[in-house]
Amino acid sequence: MKGASHPTNDVTLSQSSVPSIRDVIDAVEASRRQFIKTGLSATALASAGGLTLGGLVNTVQAAPTPATLGFPGIGFESVPANTRALNVSQGGSATSTVDRITVPAGYTAQVFVSWGDAIMPGGTAFTGTASETAAQQAKQFGMHNDGMHFFPFAGTNGAPLSDRGVLAVNNEYTHEDILFTDGQNIAGGNYTIDKTRKSQNAHGVSLVEARRVNGKWSVVKSSPYGRRITANTPCRISGPAAGHALMKAKAYTITDTGSVATGGTTNGLTANGTINNCAHGITPWGTYLACEENFNGNFSSDSAVPTSTATEVGKLNRRYGISSAGFGVYNWHKNDERFDPVKNPNEPHLFGWVVEIDPYNPRSVPVKRTAMGRFKHESAQFVVDSQNNVAFYMGDDERNEYIYKFVCAGKFNPTNKAANRDLLDSGTLYVARFDANLSGQWLALEPDTIGVNGQALRDNPNFAGANDAEVKAKILIKTRMAADAVGATMMDRPEWTGARPRIGGFDEVEVYCTLTNNNRRGNAPTASAPAANAADGSTAAASANPPVDAANPRADNDFGHIIRWRETGKTVTATSFGWDIFAQAGDSITTKTLGSTYTGTANYQGNIVDAPNGSADYGAPDGLWFDPFGRLWVQTDQVGDGSGDFINIGGNMMVCADPNTGETRRFMTAPNKCEVTGVTMTPDGKTMWVGIQHPGEDALSGNPIQFSNWPQNQWAVEADGVTALPAGRPRSSVVVITKDDGGIIGS
Ligand code: FEO
Ligand code: CA
Ligand code: CA
Ligand code: CA
Repeated sequence: MKGASHPTNDVTLSQSSVPSIRDVIDAVEASRRQFIKTGLSATALASAGGLTLGGLVNTVQAAPTPATLGFPGIGFESVPANTRALNVSQGGSATSTVDRITVPAGYTAQVFVSWGDAIMPGGTAFTGTASETAAQQAKQFGMHNDGMHFFPFAGTNGAPLSDRGVLAVNNEYTHEDILFTDGQNIAGGNYTIDKTRKSQNAHGVSLVEARRVNGKWSVVKSSPYGRRITANTPCRISGPAAGHALMKAKAYTITDTGSVATGGTTNGLTANGTINNCAHGITPWGTYLACEENFNGNFSSDSAVPTSTATEVGKLNRRYGISSAGFGVYNWHKNDERFDPVKNPNEPHLFGWVVEIDPYNPRSVPVKRTAMGRFKHESAQFVVDSQNNVAFYMGDDERNEYIYKFVCAGKFNPTNKAANRDLLDSGTLYVARFDANLSGQWLALEPDTIGVNGQALRDNPNFAGANDAEVKAKILIKTRMAADAVGATMMDRPEWTGARPRIGGFDEVEVYCTLTNNNRRGNAPTASAPAANAADGSTAAASANPPVDAANPRADNDFGHIIRWRETGKTVTATSFGWDIFAQAGDSITTKTLGSTYTGTANYQGNIVDAPNGSADYGAPDGLWFDPFGRLWVQTDQVGDGSGDFINIGGNMMVCADPNTGETRRFMTAPNKCEVTGVTMTPDGKTMWVGIQHPGEDALSGNPIQFSNWPQNQWAVEADGVTALPAGRPRSSVVVITKDDGGIIGS
């Protein structure tokens, strides 16, 4: 997420005094079509500022990428980068990218479901003007979709179907200027409790029944599986932190007209709602994991939120970024004091968890699984090893945060789903240390682990408790501080994790993680921006200026990279691993250079393997997923209008890569000012869903289509070929993609 709901952990592109390729491009932009039309030589273009012909006309690679170990090859040609130049060449403006998605020749994309679509009984059709009430939004698809997974129904023979199932989709956040017809004007008195409730009802998770009939996919709008889980849905808290004093918040009766304090507190075993569900996970036993990321932004107050390290809650607020301003856009506290951390200090502790949801049971209660730790969860990727040990790999997406894995104490039972029901409640949470020799250590966050200060965590004042059960509860509620204490490696914003399938002769436990960017990496440390998160847990979230290191080698890392590791002994229970950097993203033809004091090997050109060089350049990798056939899919989240450092890379996209060779092709480009996030497939691999989040972000309520009018400017109707798309404002959507020859996506 970015933009109007800009979180503090997102990058602001730094201003460089060195003229970037953008400056050069801007100078020639007006005449760009002329350049191409008149066929100037590559040499002449290069002399105009480091451009290559390939960079301008977006050449593609025609030959298929061959199959390699455990990888079936790539059969499609890269689509051109969606640059401003491309938009100009199509008669559009020089200040935006092309406002549509593009997929390779031989593929068809259609919009499948959009914010505001009815998805359950009683749901009303999207009005186009955002005039829906909170109650109506509660039965419609939520806003700003992110991670998702297709859960197939079983056929009569028990085999999973590829034409019917439940699509579980996270709705990460909202943009109030587009969510409400007249935006949010607090001083003007238009911000009502119904608006707060509508915003809360547009958050959470949407469960949508998807069905294909006569080759056309559609949402079953009256399905009993259709469900919304929102910021107010009752949840259960389980695992070691359940019931701890820090989890007992002020109790409220939540109604359409307000949250009324009952005068008591909760028992620490329940919570209301899930928010900022960014990426996701699934379990091998068939449940969905919604991961709570930037929950801090939804808390705000008209009073000063305590952030003193002298108090337990103040220190927690500081380390997790709870503030009076929040992200400055939701302002829920104005109408709902549950989200005011001054009035309800323990409520933030009920967020930042992994939430397990059974998509096949619409009446199931979501469960916050505290054993998996509390941080800004991006995703949770499971691996079951050959001994049926199961682990979940997870990133904490904020600058200078960490990579974790949770190893279940019990083994996965592949023959009895019910036996796995509470596997997520007990196990060991580890945090990663990446050493310069390309090995790494998983550091257990347990009471007896010795921290870098020589003290066991049970003796560290942050986690002191009556017994080790309480120590463990505090370690989990304060996961970031425990990771600080044991000396984990500060990373460049860990986003999605993905596990390579062990197929076709490949048998390693190999896991990838996108590190999207970090504009603080390599900055000179100062008193308020120290070189490291302090071991005592006192460093404010995202405030450090760490030096470059082997695992995070680029100063001012605005294009990001992808790291991967292999577990020692091919088991998820390993406490050591080997690692390398799979790819440094970048712009092959940028003239931007690292600062003169920088002595490392990284650069802004990156080392993406593509032919011709630059044909699959990307930056700010975020979504990352291996399909079951072994293809690696990577989605991006950068400034989505092809500006600044992204003048050559263009707007956001999804690429496909060979994990052996790194060979990369660009599969999709996306509308103006959006993010591409969320990808899943049917079991047969012949249908893929991809998420487009926040097209046209930053627009104000007076002109919601200022930057984008997608998807309705690309299609008149939804995937069913019947349902019209009401115009009026851009809508986050899930698109459905099929191959025209009926083949597997990517083949
Ligand atoms: Fe919501 Fe880290 O992306
Ligand atoms: Ca390259
Ligand atoms: Ca993300
Ligand atoms: Ca991101």
